[in-house]
Amino acid sequence: MTTTAVITGASSGIGHAVARRLHADGMNVMLAARRADRIESLTDELGERAAFHVTDVTDRSAVEALVAATDEAFGQVDVLVNNAGVMPISPLAMRRVDDWNQMIDVNIRGVLHGIDAVLQQMIGRKEGHIINVSSVAGHKTSPGTSVYSATKYSVRAISEGLRQEMAPLGVRVSVVSPGAVQTELGDSITVGAIRDAIAANLDFEFLDPGDIADAVAWVVGQPPNVCVSEVLIRPTGQVI
Ligand SMILES: NC(=O)c1ccc[n+]([C@@H]2O[C@H](COP(=O)([O-])OP(=O)(O)OC[C@H]3O[C@@H](n4cnc5c(N)ncnc54)[C@H](OP(=O)(O)O)[C@@H]3O)[C@@H](O)[C@H]2O)c1
Repeated sequence: MTTTAVITGASSGIGHAVARRLHADGMNVMLAARRADRIESLTDELGERAAFHVTDVTDRSAVEALVAATDEAFGQVDVLVNNAGVMPISPLAMRRVDDWNQMIDVNIRGVLHGIDAVLQQMIGRKEGHIINVSSVAGHKTSPGTSVYSATKYSVRAISEGLRQEMAPLGVRVSVVSPGAVQTELGDSITVGAIRDAIAANLDFEFLDPGDIADAVAWVVGQPPNVCVSEVLIRPTGQVI
């Protein structure tokens, strides 16, 4: 049976590249994000074995509907790539509480909603693979990235707990933690001066989203007895 993968945040950057790569590897892919035009056009381009569902991962019922639509289109969910994320970073003293809450809602609650929506069917089948996208920022924090880092540390904590719970049940759980990748993520920074400072300071060659898609494809492609717990992947020139 053809493997089916659901990819959140498939409208740009890493999720877009992962959807393309897993489809090229022969999987059915269900693309999820809020921007309908983006996921619809990639779905059209991919053709057979691709579908999309407009989804806001902060909305639990929307994520449940995404999984129901995937079951309807392809029969089941074999792989979930919990990739959707935002990064409106700023120093805590700037009091950008709405940005903090958005990161918590998308980067933590969104991941939990995805896990909850697929877990029962995976446990029932004693197979399945959940891949959560964390970050180098899930290993290190620095001035301005406290809340973003907290969300990405959380992704690793949730993933490790889930991995331990699922190990006896045959469901695999993996984390992919990228360093700097050339995507639209910087656009989610709401303070212009911070956006500009980051662009000016990160003067090394970034990873391409396809580099992360290669890592995800490798993680997914392992035999059932192999669970890659985490892949940490940086640009060669990234020091931190
Ligand atoms: N780029 C990097 O350097 C880097 C490094 C480490 C980790 N990461 C992580 O990689 C993941 C993908 O980011 P990216 O770099 O590819 O950035 P991106 O190009 O900005 O993509 C982010 C994706 O998340 C989706 N998204 C945001 N809020 C959403 C919501 N409420 N519901 C559903 N989808 C939502 C966006 O789609 P819509 O706006 O259409 O909903 C978009 O498809 C994130 O988790 C990010 O934290 C990135």
